[in-house]
Amino acid sequence: MNTAAEEEKQPQSRRQQVRKVGQSGNYWYAMELSAKLKKGESIEVMFWKSPIALFRGEDGKVQAIENRCPHRQLRLTSGIVQGNEITCQYHGWSFDGCGKCTGISHELGKGKAKDSLPNIKINAYPVQEKYQLIWVFPGDPALADKVPLPEIPQLTQPDPWEFVPLDFTLKAHFSMILENVCDFNHAFLHRKFKPFTDPHLLGHRREKDTIFIDYETDMSQSSAVKTAGEKKGEGLEDMTLWYQYPYQGSNTADKYLHWLFMTPMDEGTTRTFFVFLLGPLEIPFINKPVPKFLRKTVIRLANLFYIVPLLKEDVFILEEEMIGQERHPDIQHLEFNPIVGEFQKMSIEKWEEYIHTEALRKKAQKEAKERYIFPGAGLSKKELIAYNRMLEESKQLGL
Ligand code: FES
Ligand SMILES: [Fe+2]
Repeated sequence: MNTAAEEEKQPQSRRQQVRKVGQSGNYWYAMELSAKLKKGESIEVMFWKSPIALFRGEDGKVQAIENRCPHRQLRLTSGIVQGNEITCQYHGWSFDGCGKCTGISHELGKGKAKDSLPNIKINAYPVQEKYQLIWVFPGDPALADKVPLPEIPQLTQPDPWEFVPLDFTLKAHFSMILENVCDFNHAFLHRKFKPFTDPHLLGHRREKDTIFIDYETDMSQSSAVKTAGEKKGEGLEDMTLWYQYPYQGSNTADKYLHWLFMTPMDEGTTRTFFVFLLGPLEIPFINKPVPKFLRKTVIRLANLFYIVPLLKEDVFILEEEMIGQERHPDIQHLEFNPIVGEFQKMSIEKWEEYIHTEALRKKAQKEAKERYIFPGAGLSKKELIAYNRMLEESKQLGL
């Protein structure tokens, strides 16, 4: 029987590797629907095993800090939001959006000015709201300004399209979700709704950190297109999908698009936010365009009767797949779709890049004798030290 250490050394298939990786923290991640976090409230979200407290102070701004009180590691989200700060429920230590302790209710800090309090700090993350979502940058904060959010021109143009974001938490690894969304060979699963019929993969290509996939497929069989699609779906034969790291999306004739923002919570759990952009919609039977004032209602109905039930088929099947993969981790898949391997390669590559840059950042912080050494969320100090040691050893061996 192999020991755990020996097992670690066994060469792993790409699929086994990818199912263990997270996503690079050096991107913006959708963490919560804006509407879910009211003024004076806090909520816990998770980025790759790192709990983050989101809170909205009285100024209306969302802040994101580690969800732990440095005193005894309690969740700050079990505390209270006062003004623009969050206060731990236990001994009343308060923290601002920079993660700095700004108040202590007992003798240690009672009555003291903020700058004469002990220098206590926890990690804080850049945060912004856009597209009705709260976005957090869990990696190196110095990069946050340089890394853009995904561009969605339909939502930023002067007359933006209406949309209603959807939110699911799946018991599946994020890479499996990607493989599902871009593999139309699973049309069988959706035989009731028929979002794509007789798909044919035309090709795929990688441009920097984006993989594009072109499909030819018949979308006119879809029950939603038949009901409310423009001209019963005429001209909807080609769809381009993409994995624009770490996001996913699709575009059909610039009329119907979607974006999928995945936030990995751990190896077996992923939060997903879908933004569906539905262009031309027609009133059933009379085939006239849906007037502007009714569009949001029609979109809500489309979500309720078509998109959500359709996505629930995927949620169900991905959770089934997760069970299958956990039961049989060592059995090779019979994989016929070339996109799957390409996606897996990019996910592994980007995760390794994240560990590498964060390990160097942590080393630099240590060398500069910085008091607070923060690794990016999703990585432990131990992991980064081990990685730095590995780099050191390879250097000594001249590798
Ligand atoms: S545990 Fe949070 S203030 Fe003591
Ligand atoms: Fe699907």
